[in-house]
Amino acid sequence: MNRRDFARLLAIGGAAPFLSPAAAWPRSLDLPATPASPDEKFWMSVRDQFVMPKELTMLNAANLCPASGAVLETMYRLTKDMDRDPSQENRVKLGDGRETTRQLLAQFLRVTPEEIVITRNTSESNNLVSTGIDLKPGDEVLLTADNHPSNHTAWQEKAKRFGFTVKDLPTPNPHPGMEYYVDAFAKAITPRTKVISFTHQTSTVGDLFPAKELCGLARDHGILSMVDGAQSFGLMDVDLSDMQPDFYSGSSHKWACGPKENGVLYINKSAQSKIWASIFSAYPGRVGVSRTFEGFGQRDEPTMVAFGEALTFQTKIGRAQIEKRSRELTQALLAGLKTIDGITMWTSPDPSRTVAVVSFQPGRLDVRKLSAALYEKDHIGCATRGGQDRPGIRLSPHFYNSHADIDRTVAAIKRYMATGV
Ligand SMILES: Cc1ncc(COP(=O)(O)O)c(C=O)c1O
Repeated sequence: MNRRDFARLLAIGGAAPFLSPAAAWPRSLDLPATPASPDEKFWMSVRDQFVMPKELTMLNAANLCPASGAVLETMYRLTKDMDRDPSQENRVKLGDGRETTRQLLAQFLRVTPEEIVITRNTSESNNLVSTGIDLKPGDEVLLTADNHPSNHTAWQEKAKRFGFTVKDLPTPNPHPGMEYYVDAFAKAITPRTKVISFTHQTSTVGDLFPAKELCGLARDHGILSMVDGAQSFGLMDVDLSDMQPDFYSGSSHKWACGPKENGVLYINKSAQSKIWASIFSAYPGRVGVSRTFEGFGQRDEPTMVAFGEALTFQTKIGRAQIEKRSRELTQALLAGLKTIDGITMWTSPDPSRTVAVVSFQPGRLDVRKLSAALYEKDHIGCATRGGQDRPGIRLSPHFYNSHADIDRTVAAIKRYMATGV
């Protein structure tokens, strides 16, 4: 398929759902029950639940995932219903649906609905925490050096305003192992440390952090713990009742494959008296902490309900199976990339240190040109990382990918490494 044909295919595939009746979209009802050992055929039936054309290989889950047909259908149906009759009476059911999503989020994360705030994204969730905890001069926040700006710049900027101190713990490459981080945090904690915050799996190179151990360490010292779950929510079979953080954040539109501009903030019951809400307005949630923390004014409730549909979709497939599949594809990708001369791999091949984010420098190739060629000629979507810190290409496979996607991607990179771009 040439570039023009591919562009046409994307235009048709992308526009069709919004022109055709919602009934034309894939429905999770068509999804077969997950077998005990799902094979490639089963995962292809999962792939069929998305409106992406088969010719497109998306390996950028760490940035933005497609929503399934069931999510699109829910958004479309409820938005149309609301705009057909925007009366308060007709919208009562949307408020009920929003509470159902809260219950589904609680089940998904294995906590209670009273501890769930439905936000717009991880950035908002993280900032609600860094703004909401009462910190003053003399207090210290301990961070890992490798965090998204919403969990790094945010703390640094608030430190300027409120006078507390932020300390970064180095994150060596390659990943030095879980014990290293438990030890590094234990040594860095002082009587001034009030919060520790880190990313469950980093978006840069996919380093996994020992979340349960670090949250336990924080608790033992009377310190609050904040886990940025943007790269674990919807990918890993996260169990917050086991991890026991004080705060955990995530985005619907990443690995959970939900609608855009929805996110989650978990606030542990035991931490709710230690954080202030930052936004006060109308239309909060109905239970627990959402009554004070979720009054953001008018919301897009159809998408909040569709967020719940995304959780139901993943739950139906099986969250442990989804994590296993993404891990298996990632290991196949790492093995394939290892066979290519000239690649500098930033991601640990050890599955106990990473899950499904793979970053590498493709020799001396210009990564922007390589990414453009992969997309335009091979129809593979990836992310690029510029700058000095482990620059290169980032690939993040998810459960809608196949082994054929991985093989095609490895072959294409091998070809460009041999011929240039
Ligand atoms: C680790 C991490 N935290 C936070 C975010 C912000 O997510 P969002 O843009 O959905 O707010 C990202 C986005 O890539 C991320 O990777």
